[in-house]
Amino acid sequence: MVLRPEDEHFMAAAIRLSRQHLGLTSTNPSVGCLIVKDGVIVGSGVTALGGRPHAEPQALAEAGEGARGATAYVTLEPCSHYGKTPPCAEALIAYGVARVVISVTDPDQRVSGRGINMLREAGIEVETGILETEGRRSLAGYLMRQTRNRPYVTLKLAISADGMIGKTGAGQVRITGDAARAEVQMLRAESDAILVGIGTAISDDPELTCRLPGLEDRTPLRIVIDEQLQLPLGSKLVQTARKYPVVAVAGYPPSFDDANDEALLRRREALDAAGVEVLQSNVNEPGELLEALGTRGISSLLVEGGARTARRFLDAGMVDRILLFQGPAEIGEGGIESPVLKSNIPAEFMHVGQSRFGDDLCDEYERGF
Ligand SMILES: NC(=O)c1ccc[n+]([C@@H]2O[C@H](COP(=O)([O-])OP(=O)(O)OC[C@H]3O[C@@H](n4cnc5c(N)ncnc54)[C@H](OP(=O)(O)O)[C@@H]3O)[C@@H](O)[C@H]2O)c1
Repeated sequence: MVLRPEDEHFMAAAIRLSRQHLGLTSTNPSVGCLIVKDGVIVGSGVTALGGRPHAEPQALAEAGEGARGATAYVTLEPCSHYGKTPPCAEALIAYGVARVVISVTDPDQRVSGRGINMLREAGIEVETGILETEGRRSLAGYLMRQTRNRPYVTLKLAISADGMIGKTGAGQVRITGDAARAEVQMLRAESDAILVGIGTAISDDPELTCRLPGLEDRTPLRIVIDEQLQLPLGSKLVQTARKYPVVAVAGYPPSFDDANDEALLRRREALDAAGVEVLQSNVNEPGELLEALGTRGISSLLVEGGARTARRFLDAGMVDRILLFQGPAEIGEGGIESPVLKSNIPAEFMHVGQSRFGDDLCDEYERGF
């Protein structure tokens, strides 16, 4: 690998650029591309909304003749096959770039090294693996779905100073402040789907929407694990299901007796009529649901609790990243213990960093994949 001093600087910028369309590129990854000539960015591109066009042709078109002899920084290996658009590797060759610096190689069987070989066979110098950890983080959803056919799962919990996530019978308890809540809204905007358990849906009556001004349409697919379809018809989720899709995940019939079958069928029909999609899955096996979500193109899932749902995903090994927001106040008597605390993070998770949001702290943990 022949790195230049400026390579990490420009790759970091390309990774930042790629985050602009996170959660907005359908099943395609959100890739960032910069064309740099004599230390100056002459072209830039990020995967377009909906997934096409890719980042590279946009950056090349902006650079025009300036791309000749330039260096292209790309967060993901340029594609090499004719999908719905011509291969980006060909476009880079046609524009006459001299060097291509890549962060992450594409595990997609149709690519996985072929893009790199096409460039090298055309006499272009190629470097790979630059800021790979950061690059993989920015592409986590795409990489997880490509390699394991399931979404990348982030578990986000807000915990009080005494380690509680709520209070029995108290409904939604305010644990963190505005800055942390705004950060959570941004997490929702960047996620393809969001998930809670029925306990939370009933006790908190949450909307699970993105309420950042101007980003309302970035509300993810809203999912409730609801084995017995108890989601109230009057709940905010059901009342807004035609505006922002809602999926209720029911269990399989075996656990129902005749009488319950009838009642369940009626609840199902009522949810259908309200515009809620009912999906059946083994609610005790989160992996099964995640595979179904992966197959329908969901690359990133934000699990927002409650306690039992969080525990179920952790125990099933179906959490890839943990975000623990901690508020300064205690809940005390009647508190619901958080299933995960900074003091008992599962061993396979690595502490990535801590950020401050007003009086609140957020600790981030991730496990490799
Ligand atoms: N601070 C945070 O980040 C945060 C986030 C979300 C929720 N919360 C709090 O977490 C609490 C809810 O957590 P949770 O563990 O109880 O549930 P949950 O994980 O949200 O929901 C799943 C559980 O709900 C239970 N459930 C089923 N039917 C129910 C019904 N009709 N009413 C109530 N619960 C039912 C089920 O328990 P069985 O398996 O026993 O049937 C199931 O395991 C609430 O107090 C909420 O405010 C906090």
